[in-house]
Amino acid sequence: MEKILIGNWKSNKTIDETREFLTEFSQYLLDHPPSNKKIIICPTFTTLKYTADFLHANNIEVAIGAQNISRYEEGAYTGEVAARQLQNIAQWVIIGHSERRRLFGETEDIITEKLKQAKKYDLKTVLCVQDESEDTSEAEYVAYEPPTSIGTGSPDDPKHIEEVFGKILEKNSSAKLLYGGSIDEKNIEKYREIKNISGFLIGGASLNASSFAGLISKC
Ligand code: PGA
Repeated sequence: MEKILIGNWKSNKTIDETREFLTEFSQYLLDHPPSNKKIIICPTFTTLKYTADFLHANNIEVAIGAQNISRYEEGAYTGEVAARQLQNIAQWVIIGHSERRRLFGETEDIITEKLKQAKKYDLKTVLCVQDESEDTSEAEYVAYEPPTSIGTGSPDDPKHIEEVFGKILEKNSSAKLLYGGSIDEKNIEKYREIKNISGFLIGGASLNASSFAGLISKC
């Protein structure tokens, strides 16, 4: 089954740094075409279009995702980016990341509205959850990301991930499941065989072209 690998760049990279990354990363993909793997990069809004254009111009098969969208339609919402504005740039969007819930006050109601906006404008969604309690029925992919494992170097235990996946599947048997939290080139082999796993959401280890490429080759 095709594995999905999503790089979440969070609030990182200028245009120059993005160009550097993409130049190195695309060379790697041309030299080692990944088989049976879908790669998605989620840059910040300031580098989204640049990244999309670079990949398109170089015929690199990597999809583009946004890290967030507005809960509202296009309009008078200063500082927000609406789902409709991502048409022809991004195909995917991450919704409900724990950093957004914790630092930017995203509630389940807001997340539900964002899922609706994404659906309306044909963006595929990766819904981040911290346990099995949430409704996952509207998401394309569900990423289980325990906050204690994000950016800490301590990924969750594979057995525990399987248990949480099992509980999510009891409520939504068609959920496609990802894991995220401190996955890197060195530990991915321990995680890729987890039962029912469709792929990974990767933060820190996706920022460096050679470590992201190394991780992809081991998945
Ligand atoms: P991390 O982040 O890989 O740096 O732990 C994962 C995430 O927040 O999606």
